[in-house]
Amino acid sequence: MRVLALLDGTLADPEAPLFRADDLGVMRGDGCFETILVVDRAPRELGAHLERMERSARLMQMPLPEREAWERAAQAVIDAWPWESETEMGLKLVCTRGVDGGDGTPHGFAMGMDVGPETRRKRDSGVEVVTLERGYSSDLMERAPWLLLSAKTLSYAVNMAALREAESRGADEVVFTADDGVVLEGPTSTVVLAQGRTLLTTPPAAGVLQGTTQGALFRAAEQAGWRTEVVNFPTSALFDSDGVWLASSLRRITQVRSIDGTSIKADDALHAEVVDLYESNYRA
Ligand SMILES: Cc1ncc(COP(=O)(O)O)c(C=O)c1O
Repeated sequence: MRVLALLDGTLADPEAPLFRADDLGVMRGDGCFETILVVDRAPRELGAHLERMERSARLMQMPLPEREAWERAAQAVIDAWPWESETEMGLKLVCTRGVDGGDGTPHGFAMGMDVGPETRRKRDSGVEVVTLERGYSSDLMERAPWLLLSAKTLSYAVNMAALREAESRGADEVVFTADDGVVLEGPTSTVVLAQGRTLLTTPPAAGVLQGTTQGALFRAAEQAGWRTEVVNFPTSALFDSDGVWLASSLRRITQVRSIDGTSIKADDALHAEVVDLYESNYRA
């Protein structure tokens, strides 16, 4: 299922070509994007997603269409989605730098897509993870802003290659590690640990994306009396913690069951509690 809207709020045929062959998004992956979960017509963390897209565009020194245009396109997709049969939707907001050699006008669209069966399976059953080197140290981001670490750019070929590597090793998912041993993030997810009644995640300063799902989880956890820490931690912490999760908009809060072939603590009651904290953000 696909529903496509342009930034003026009009719907377009999702099966018809939309971009020129010389668009820089097509030719170089030069652009930014967001993926937002929409449940029963309600987009989750829309403000945080739009803020993050603005930040990505700023880091890329790329003009971004105004926020109202994204909100309009998102609403057009939500209004056209078949909610009677599909209660969840992944909403992609995509913006490219525009045509190579053109006037610099960025090109964007919003597209609704269903949440695939694999994502749902992983949510329900948990995942086996491998750690893979990301190839930089956790203090590189500030020194090398041109690497666009912590921006959500369209250049996800490396992230997808890492997931294929995991599959070839018989695993479902990846946790990237830095050269100095710090745990970074998944190719499309944030890593969250529980140690007692404390939830931990890696800081964006280490070069990872600021997760909107992790942010929502930590917000609810703090209100419920948990402690939260945004700190660097080593790979060994994945094995020593009371629970490890991968958090992202579409996968929500997915439990990690093993790392590099070794089972880790994956307590079902704790998992249910952490999922419930996250979901409590969205109850009426
Ligand atoms: C590299 C990376 N880190 C973290 C996340 C999680 O972000 P969010 O929870 O906002 O979806 C994503 C989302 O796709 C991602 O691509």
